[in-house]
Amino acid sequence: MPVTGQRSTDRHGEAPLTGTPEEEAAPAEVRILAIANQKGGVGKTTTTVNLGASLAELGHRVLIVDLDPQGNATTGLGINYRVLDSTMYDVMLSGLPIDDCIEPTEVKGLFVAPASLDLAGAEVELVSSFNRESSWHGRWTTSPINMSTS
Ligand SMILES: Nc1ncnc2c1ncn2[C@@H]1O[C@H](COP(=O)(O)OP(=O)(O)O)[C@@H](O)[C@H]1O
Ligand SMILES: [Mg+2]
Repeated sequence: MPVTGQRSTDRHGEAPLTGTPEEEAAPAEVRILAIANQKGGVGKTTTTVNLGASLAELGHRVLIVDLDPQGNATTGLGINYRVLDSTMYDVMLSGLPIDDCIEPTEVKGLFVAPASLDLAGAEVELVSSFNRESSWHGRWTTSPINMSTS
């Protein structure tokens, strides 16, 4: 993770940087941004991919979680979900830890948890899933996401 040489505060300008470059590059907090709108064609995917790439270029580690069955963010980031063993469908429906579906992209620091067409049926399948909200919530939040491959 690049850390520019002359900064005297963290990337939010909130605190002095101390420690090793690796420690300084570690996020003080994880921020989750949701790009959502029921209407199609309004720029959700375009915003997601470009915002993610821009943040990665600035030195942040970014994970784009693609939950759209069309998978346009996934393919837009250069990942062919048709050849993947696991996607966000497996995370949401089969108990797969999210770490196990993360793919690196060509942009350093930018990763994607890919979507697949299966997600089109996920909402219906989740209706009959007992305790569905809490059953997959933990898999997103308790395990440290491994994005060390790029
Ligand atoms: N800021 C923008 N200016 C012009 N065209 C845009 C802009 N953002 C997105 N588009 C175009 O609008 C279309 C829909 O964008 P997309 O991101 O796929 O929408 P959504 O994900 O909401 O369905 C695409 O053809 C995209 O290139
Ligand atoms: Mg889209």
